[in-house]
Amino acid sequence: MEKPTGVIVFLFTFILFAAAQRNGSNIMENPFHVGVILDLTTLVGKMGQTSISMAIDDFYSINSNYTTRLVLHTKDSGNDVVQAASAALDLIEKIEVQVIIGPQKSSQAALVSYVGNKSHVPIISFTATSPSLSSALTPYFVRATFDDAVQVDSISSIIRAYGWREVVPVYEDSDYGRGIIPYLIDSLEQVDCRVPYRSVISLVATDDQIIEELYKLMTMQTRVFIVHMSVPMGSRLFRKVNEAGLMSQGYAWIMTGLTSLVESLDPSIIASMQGTIGVRLYVPKSRKLDHFAR
Ligand SMILES: *[C@@H]1O[C@H](CO)[C@@H](O)[C@H](O)[C@H]1NC(C)=O
Ligand SMILES: *[C@@H]1O[C@H](CO)[C@@H](O)[C@H](O)[C@H]1NC(C)=O
Ligand SMILES: *[C@@H]1O[C@H](CO)[C@@H](O)[C@H](O)[C@H]1NC(C)=O
Repeated sequence: MEKPTGVIVFLFTFILFAAAQRNGSNIMENPFHVGVILDLTTLVGKMGQTSISMAIDDFYSINSNYTTRLVLHTKDSGNDVVQAASAALDLIEKIEVQVIIGPQKSSQAALVSYVGNKSHVPIISFTATSPSLSSALTPYFVRATFDDAVQVDSISSIIRAYGWREVVPVYEDSDYGRGIIPYLIDSLEQVDCRVPYRSVISLVATDDQIIEELYKLMTMQTRVFIVHMSVPMGSRLFRKVNEAGLMSQGYAWIMTGLTSLVESLDPSIIASMQGTIGVRLYVPKSRKLDHFAR
């Protein structure tokens, strides 16, 4: 998961330039229909939706002479794979959008990329980060962000710097959660770090089941954990980690993509993460980023 802002500015500039070129000479306003599929009740979905409309406002305030007007058709995928796919079908067949931005989750993108590929409508996701998604089979799928595999070498460097010999990945049982694992394990192997156990947490796990799993971790030799989870699961996990007393001296917790969203989380969740090390994508400062929404 990544903070969407920078990517979206870029994405819209790209789409608008592409759209403008389709009919540069037309003086009348020229609508260009764009579908947006996000989980609108989630933090990332809300950030995405807000950033998209800010990016459009910014673009037209600077380029008021553009005759092409983006017309957004936003659909809520309701955290559901089938709903995301049916939203895509609707947008393509009924509204005849020319491109779809989204969907949000890797599991949704796996299916929606086939829908887009079949109809030859580009699917541009800025948040689906599972490395298993690829444009090789479905060339109409475009990932406008880095995949999670880019993080694994940074994590391994931390492990090597501390001289840790064993780690346990703690991840959610989803396309997003599982996607990073083969890459992580290969990378850890290169720094001579063993993975004696993998802690996979179901998306429907109860708090009691999470606690039970944490107690199991306590009985093991390993004291270093790598958490690869989306916001809702990660927030729940860290609360429980604290309750179980596992966020204390002798234990090390490393976070993946969740780190990029820390500032947007509830203060009590941030408090429960105190002591965790995280890696996040570095977005260099630039004039464009600085002027976003001004
Ligand atoms: C631009 O739009 C006008 C009016 O709708 C149309 O006649 C013309 O063919 C379009 N040009 C291109 C390059 O699509
Ligand atoms: C709009 O105006 C800007 C600056 O005046 C110019 O650089 C740009 O090429 C124009 N774009 C179009 C589509 O006419
Ligand atoms: C995706 O579309 C391309 C081009 O139409 C086609 O060659 C390819 O087989 C499609 N992929 C899948 C998985 O259907």
